[in-house]
Amino acid sequence: MSAVLVVGGSGGLGREIARHFVERGDNVTVTSRSAERADEVAAELGAQGLAIDLTAPETIEKALAEVGELDHLVITAIEQSGNTVKPFSIEDAIKASTVKLVGYTEVARVLHDRFRPGASIVLFGGLGAVRPYPGSTMITATNSAVSGVMRTLAVELAPVRVNALHPGVVGDSPAWRERDLAMVTARTPTGRVTSTAEVVDATDFLLRNGAANAIDLHLDGGTRIV
Ligand SMILES: NC(=O)c1ccc[n+]([C@@H]2O[C@H](COP(=O)([O-])OP(=O)(O)OC[C@H]3O[C@@H](n4cnc5c(N)ncnc54)[C@H](OP(=O)(O)O)[C@@H]3O)[C@@H](O)[C@H]2O)c1
Repeated sequence: MSAVLVVGGSGGLGREIARHFVERGDNVTVTSRSAERADEVAAELGAQGLAIDLTAPETIEKALAEVGELDHLVITAIEQSGNTVKPFSIEDAIKASTVKLVGYTEVARVLHDRFRPGASIVLFGGLGAVRPYPGSTMITATNSAVSGVMRTLAVELAPVRVNALHPGVVGDSPAWRERDLAMVTARTPTGRVTSTAEVVDATDFLLRNGAANAIDLHLDGGTRIV
């Protein structure tokens, strides 16, 4: 049985990743900004719940105090809206970059001596890292920065393996499932969008495969090259 922490496991992709590991028989902890919500989702999944807010990095060490030894860490957390340069919300930009740059890094720092032999980490970026669009200024900046955080952590935390997963539009995720995705599928070489099951599978691969290290895995059906 592996010990798995999913920071951002209370919703969206993180919740389905957490569900996958619970169903596999692992000991899983999911987080939310709200302790109540973390406990609610944990009870539904058969996991443990933990409250953590990555916009307040100085609180992260205390929030993770009860976390024991880990085999796998997945960080999907995001607090972000579309934020173009015209107009530019400084408040939103600070939150978005604090979560993905400082927050992701601080979680890894706090946990660095709790990883068991063979442990691995997956950090979540996104297609916007390499495929900018109007309104993606901070999405592009923060998700490409996740690649930088991943590469330096792969060096600093070695032999712990660290990889980044960059999904395209995940059509059945809560963020997209109510929207018309015709334009997205039309410009995707595969003619379809990424599914949550494919994101879960790719996360499992990166966590499990002993040679997978310092990889930016793009899971977008090839959208980034067209
Ligand atoms: N969905 C997609 O199509 C897609 C595409 C490309 C990339 N991605 C990437 O995949 C990751 C997951 O996306 P998603 O669609 O699953 O997001 P989501 O449904 O919005 O879930 C976000 C998670 O982050 C948590 N969270 C929000 N603010 C937080 C904070 N300040 N501190 C700690 N946790 C916080 C939320 O918990 P609470 O709200 O309970 O606090 C929730 O568990 C993101 O990093 C995103 O960039 C997603």
